[in-house]
Amino acid sequence: MAAKRAAKKSKGLASKPKGKLGILTPGMGAVATTFIAGVMAINKGLANPVGSLTQMGRMRIGKRTNSKKLPKMDQVVPLQDLKKVVFGGWDIFKDNMYEAAVHADVLEPALLSKLKAPLSKIKPMKAVFDKNYVKKLNGTHVKKAKNKMDLAKAVMADIKKFKKTNNCDRLVMVWCGSTEIYIEEAAVHKTIAAFEKGLEKNSKLIAPSMIYAYAAIKMGIPYANGAPNLSCDVPALVELAKQTGAPIAGKDFKTGQTLMKTILAPGFKARALGIEGWFSTNILGNRDGEVLDDPDNFKTKEVSKLGVLEQILEPELYPELYKDFYHKVRINYYPPRGDNKEGWDNIDIKGWLDYPMQIKVDFLCRDSILAAPIVLDLAIFLDLAKRAGMSGIQEWLSFYLKSPQAPEGRYPIHDIFKQLAKLENTLRYIGGHELINHLGQDYEE
Ligand SMILES: NC(=O)c1ccc[n+]([C@@H]2O[C@H](COP(=O)([O-])OP(=O)(O)OC[C@H]3O[C@@H](n4cnc5c(N)ncnc54)[C@H](O)[C@@H]3O)[C@@H](O)[C@H]2O)c1
Repeated sequence: MAAKRAAKKSKGLASKPKGKLGILTPGMGAVATTFIAGVMAINKGLANPVGSLTQMGRMRIGKRTNSKKLPKMDQVVPLQDLKKVVFGGWDIFKDNMYEAAVHADVLEPALLSKLKAPLSKIKPMKAVFDKNYVKKLNGTHVKKAKNKMDLAKAVMADIKKFKKTNNCDRLVMVWCGSTEIYIEEAAVHKTIAAFEKGLEKNSKLIAPSMIYAYAAIKMGIPYANGAPNLSCDVPALVELAKQTGAPIAGKDFKTGQTLMKTILAPGFKARALGIEGWFSTNILGNRDGEVLDDPDNFKTKEVSKLGVLEQILEPELYPELYKDFYHKVRINYYPPRGDNKEGWDNIDIKGWLDYPMQIKVDFLCRDSILAAPIVLDLAIFLDLAKRAGMSGIQEWLSFYLKSPQAPEGRYPIHDIFKQLAKLENTLRYIGGHELINHLGQDYEE
């Protein structure tokens, strides 16, 4: 009620965006180039921003009476204009964004050739990289320094230079780099002091993605993590984000198979249908698939993908429906498919009197086509959060993430419909509109 009253009175929390927004991506491979080339194509009127809520989404404001109020999201909250966005980033390969996009082989050559000039101008900065964390890649375009703290300082220097050269008012960073090996949270991640000491002492438990995250967050720059590695999902960086006023979100873009899972599973549960097993397998042939072919890197992805059903189905509360349900996820590297992944799901469900049924889903998807609008929305919404004075974990952005970061002591929400309700209500709150509780007119105050 307090939030509702505050929102009613408020004229909106976020200031209007001024000047240019720089979007920085550590990792400039398939996802990043599809995102950057996509925004350029959209700005030239060559294509539509399909899949992006910030560009196409509408939402309800106020009561369902008389006139239909379903404004676009940028009329609910002040969002950065796509025409005033610039791009930069880091990669272990020197290729400019045109060459990298051609290599990624996601977008058609005819489209890329129309964008060749602006794409070729974007060249990656030297990366913070260590082969021990991504075993299948060999980087040549890599920074050297005496310790990890100096590497973080070098990234901060890059960021300052980028901001000045491109005349940006504000920046956002979104990790689009490869999935790193599995690392569990340890003492070095617990406090800011321990983390900074770890950077000085070259702790093995601080992966390159954490160095970029530290650099951005230390400068108060919003940071999102599109891969399943820990990155900003450790107490030290969450605390730092609160101190420096940086909004953060992670982990792992929710794109193909997990997107389908978080759409389907809430539906089965809503109808009290049981699930005996859910077998998911994927074939993909891009560089991401090659990286995930290594067991240590796959482990990171597997953990991220497995948590989803457990939380949505809550077997401990519904033992008759979900106790002992079997959940398996496989990913196989299969070069002929390139970026066009195939995700199969076999779902063994049960109905009235425990009678069994089966559902098969075969999603012939395009990995980076699904991920690109997520990069855009995370960047645009994190910039909004920053202007609204919000910092630390932005749970309302869980909608876009496979393994959402939740504040300490709270479990993450995976159900996409609950996530959307939270996202929309947060936008209403930021925009100074009344929150919607779906109670209906008979009961509304
Ligand atoms: N649908 C999707 O495509 C999807 C969904 C969820 C998550 N992701 C994750 O997004 C990330 C990017 O996917 P992608 O398909 O673009 O992969 P990609 O292999 O095409 O691109 C990743 C890029 O990161 C670079 N890189 C690796 N380590 C780096 C470092 N330390 N610093 C700078 N650059 C580094 C690599 O050289 C490569 O160019 C992966 O971690 C992937 O798991 C993708």
